[in-house]
Amino acid sequence: MTTVGFLDVAATARWIAQRGPEAVIGRLIDALADDLARWEELDKRPRIATHSRDGVIELMPTADDATYGFKFVNGHPSNPARGFQTVTAFGVLADVHNGYPTFLAEMTLLTALRTAATSALAARHLARQDSRTLALIGCGSQSEFQALGMRAALGVTHLRAWDTDPAARAKLARNARALGFEVHEATSGDDAVTGADIITTCTADKANATVLTLEMVTELAHPGVHVNAIGGDCPGKTELDPRILHAADVVVEYEPQTRIEGEIQQTPDLAVTELWEIVTGRRPGRRETVRAPQGAGESFERGVGERSPLDATTGRTQVTVFDSVGFAVEDWTVLRLVRDDVPAELLAHLDLIAEPADPKDLFSLVRDAGGADADAVRHSLDRLMGLEGRTRPHARESAIA
Ligand SMILES: NC(=O)c1ccc[n+]([C@@H]2O[C@H](COP(=O)([O-])OP(=O)(O)OC[C@H]3O[C@@H](n4cnc5c(N)ncnc54)[C@H](O)[C@@H]3O)[C@@H](O)[C@H]2O)c1
Repeated sequence: MTTVGFLDVAATARWIAQRGPEAVIGRLIDALADDLARWEELDKRPRIATHSRDGVIELMPTADDATYGFKFVNGHPSNPARGFQTVTAFGVLADVHNGYPTFLAEMTLLTALRTAATSALAARHLARQDSRTLALIGCGSQSEFQALGMRAALGVTHLRAWDTDPAARAKLARNARALGFEVHEATSGDDAVTGADIITTCTADKANATVLTLEMVTELAHPGVHVNAIGGDCPGKTELDPRILHAADVVVEYEPQTRIEGEIQQTPDLAVTELWEIVTGRRPGRRETVRAPQGAGESFERGVGERSPLDATTGRTQVTVFDSVGFAVEDWTVLRLVRDDVPAELLAHLDLIAEPADPKDLFSLVRDAGGADADAVRHSLDRLMGLEGRTRPHARESAIA
């Protein structure tokens, strides 16, 4: 019998706790960079979104020539007020050669990990390398993971946290301090971004909200700030003042999907770069005016990957935006990583594939199951009626046949 490995929520949480969340995100950053290097080989399409008044349910498929994967995920900003999670998910891997599912996993926790890893990979290429202070606007489910991602990628040590819900803010502060961060509980969005090197917006609101204005970015944040915008991920659901996008270098995951769902739905003609282009070195990330090596004359511009100590006065004002909506390849990456890493004792095995001995005799499974059930019922009744081993009366026999 072919079974499907199954990782449930409790097992996923144990796996993350055993490995350490920051270490897992660190490994995911590298795994994602490897997969993005294969971008042109991968099957890609915008996700399939089914919208309703309260939220969206999405299917996110991708594949290479060996492994197919998809994620089911919802986004319902009004859920926490009703006692539900904003985002929940599960995902599947399958063998391309026969189409059989091979692995099934919860993906609510895995989504938080892969979103943090994607943000961190982008920040590694787009943020100033001396970034230590992260402003978090939105302190819900994603926020601790986002903080850990930025520490794994850049060594962020300080958080400035703002949420319209004081309980969410206090929860983040408590969890983040236990993780070793210095936390400032901000009194407003303005307070949160003041002096920040990186700003992550991870709010949930089914609206064109403005949680970040151009003035907050250019006047309050540290010059050369990187904006990691993850909460605007549906048509009509954005977080940024569009003037920020016009003032910044904007990087997206997969342009055809982000044009529909991302911040750039507000700026249809804005040119953007895809993350894989930067990760593979085809396009520069943060442009930095660096001190020229001795004897090389004037300061010069470099892309990331060939860094030198930053010039203290120049080349520090470029604003970068990662307009993240979440892309299927990120889910495929985390599913493969966890499948290959999870210890056997955390994995259950599901009888998910109907696979009769004769591949054309699917009905045999029903026929045999019916027979077995009927026999079991017959034997129980016989025992109850003291008829075991004797011939049944005809009428009763036919009633349970
Ligand atoms: N880009 C991606 O890959 C990706 C992945 C996962 C989630 N998301 C999105 O990120 C967002 C956050 O997800 P979550 O699971 O943390 O949601 P959540 O509901 O757990 O947390 C959202 C928080 O934002 C706060 N908030 C709402 N409006 C605010 C405002 N104007 N200012 C400050 N705080 C505000 C809420 O009080 C809440 O605490 C959602 O919109 C979700 O759809 C994106």
